Amino acid sequence: MTVAVLGRGAIGGPLARALRDGAVPGARLAGVITRGAEPPADLPALTLADALAVADLVVEAAGQDALAELGPKVLAAGKDLLVVSTGALADDAVFAALTEPRQGRLHLSSGAVGGLDLLAAAGLMGPWRSVCLTTTKKAATLVQPWMSPEQARQVREADQPVELMRGPAREVARSFPKSANVAASVALAVGAWDVVEAAVVADPAASLTSHVITAEGAAGRYRFEMCNHPSPTTPTTSGIVPYAVLRSIAAIAGRQVMFR
Ligand SMILES: NC(=O)c1ccc[n+]([C@@H]2O[C@H](COP(=O)([O-])OP(=O)(O)OC[C@H]3O[C@@H](n4cnc5c(N)ncnc54)[C@H](O)[C@@H]3O)[C@@H](O)[C@H]2O)c1
Repeated sequence: MTVAVLGRGAIGGPLARALRDGAVPGARLAGVITRGAEPPADLPALTLADALAVADLVVEAAGQDALAELGPKVLAAGKDLLVVSTGALADDAVFAALTEPRQGRLHLSSGAVGGLDLLAAAGLMGPWRSVCLTTTKKAATLVQPWMSPEQARQVREADQPVELMRGPAREVARSFPKSANVAASVALAVGAWDVVEAAVVADPAASLTSHVITAEGAAGRYRFEMCNHPSPTTPTTSGIVPYAVLRSIAAIAGRQVMFR
């Protein structure tokens, strides 16, 4: 399976290098799609057209806007697409463009969280009474362009944890596009946007990024807590994410079991 990676940041960079170095048997790196940016010296650069000509799978590691713009083109070309910026699917038009039948297949990476497989199974068994996600990150990483200067200052200078938003997963995933894709991932796993409530907490003392998922429904009661080290280069992203993507690629390549 030949793989092209869209984006070469905290996720795309380590991911592309690991693929280049043979981390996933059966998967080979074609290159990184850089869209005019200076390509990294140690990785082959591709245009989107190059990638669509040679790759079986395109991995999106570039952000919600890039996924909305380029994802439909990948699928329309009949190529498979694996995404991390799941929050883009909170937009109904993007959701429709990425899930339309007759194209390449859409795959969602679990990204920074676990438990999605069990939540998806439980959602098939019966309805949910409640599903909640609380994401807590280092305060300074959560400042957003839509915040007023005063709110941005309060977030940066907070001396204790502050809840910045609590609401429907769809709204939270779009409001924190670099930090709350997991809200969309949980909603997509349980198969409903409206049942999932998400909260984002800015914690000046947080050295780890935490995601706590609690859910209760026909299948049972669940609680998952993830505490990830942030990426040293892009602290909005957890360092685990490129490795979650490698696992997703291995599953697509039919290599679920990989011993080191
Ligand atoms: N699902 C999850 O758990 C999860 C976790 C973390 C991040 N994410 C998502 O992953 C995205 C990427 O994270 P990151 O930490 O690697 O970000 P980053 O800022 O370190 O890197 C993003 C890269 O994408 C490139 N890029 C942006 N738009 C592009 C385009 N149109 N064409 C080609 N390249 C483009 C940038 O140049 C950069 O190289 C985040 O924006 C977020 O949406 C998801």
